[in-house]
Amino acid sequence: MSSTINKCLFPVAGYGTRFLPATKAMPKEMLPILTKPLIQYGVEEAVAAGMTQMAFITGRGKRAIEDHFDTSYELEHQIKGTDKEPLLDGIRGLIDKCSFAYTRQIEMRGLGDAIMEGGKLIGDEAFGVILADDLCTNGNECVMSQMAKLYEEHNCCIVAIEDVPEQDVSSYGIIEGEQIADGVFKVLNMVEKPKPEDAPSNMGIIGRYILTPDIFDVLRNTPLGKNGELQITDALNTLAKQGKVMAYRFKGRRFDCGSVSGFVAATNYFYEKTLQEKS
Ligand code: UTP
Repeated sequence: MSSTINKCLFPVAGYGTRFLPATKAMPKEMLPILTKPLIQYGVEEAVAAGMTQMAFITGRGKRAIEDHFDTSYELEHQIKGTDKEPLLDGIRGLIDKCSFAYTRQIEMRGLGDAIMEGGKLIGDEAFGVILADDLCTNGNECVMSQMAKLYEEHNCCIVAIEDVPEQDVSSYGIIEGEQIADGVFKVLNMVEKPKPEDAPSNMGIIGRYILTPDIFDVLRNTPLGKNGELQITDALNTLAKQGKVMAYRFKGRRFDCGSVSGFVAATNYFYEKTLQEKS
């Protein structure tokens, strides 16, 4: 699809402590679901939504991500002309289609801080944000594509939401919204990781956003929030109070691959899918 949103930001600086020791020397985003790393699923989704400029917020120990989106001459030479060569078609296609830019988050001060760092790579335009450890899948139209369409209509920030079990609300940013169309809400208030008794709903924000560039100024003026981190939810709440944030209950399925159980569920799902496609 064609879109007015060209850039997609990937905050990948987090430590991935839930996957230690696997993530001691390897980025969490390079963990594979079958044979493809999480980050590649994310970039493929951005491309499917019409975006071609990929911007990464990286940190120490994340160089494997840069190498993944680059040519590996030695390897290419080794497998040229063999039956293994087609295994690189997908990643080669992405490298041809997209540009990749990187900046480092020096201190891990939260997702809001990572996105604020991304301002250097984004400039003055609306952009997508994909947290690659939330792996989303939908048959016809990927989640970011659905959101890009909604952005064309509303021209404001959009967060993807999912109904989460009540006991899990304290793991999410939770919104309070007024439904304005099927699955589309005007956000009135949002709270980062509330206790169940304080949660305004069970609509939790997942790792897909479309943000307008005014978010950078708001982030610069937002105090540190939960866990002493700069929270994107707090900054978005400032814009929500000005009527500038929508929430979208996306079509499709999302796996929380930042947790071991979500990662295993995604692996099983994609493995079954592959078997079905082969039969
Ligand atoms: P998470 O809290 O899910 O990731 O942050 P984490 O910190 O890497 O994982 P755990 O909890 O220790 O296992 C959500 C996303 O925000 C990024 C992470 O890389 C992840 O994609 N992030 C988080 C940053 O880029 N910088 C930060 O300071 C914090």
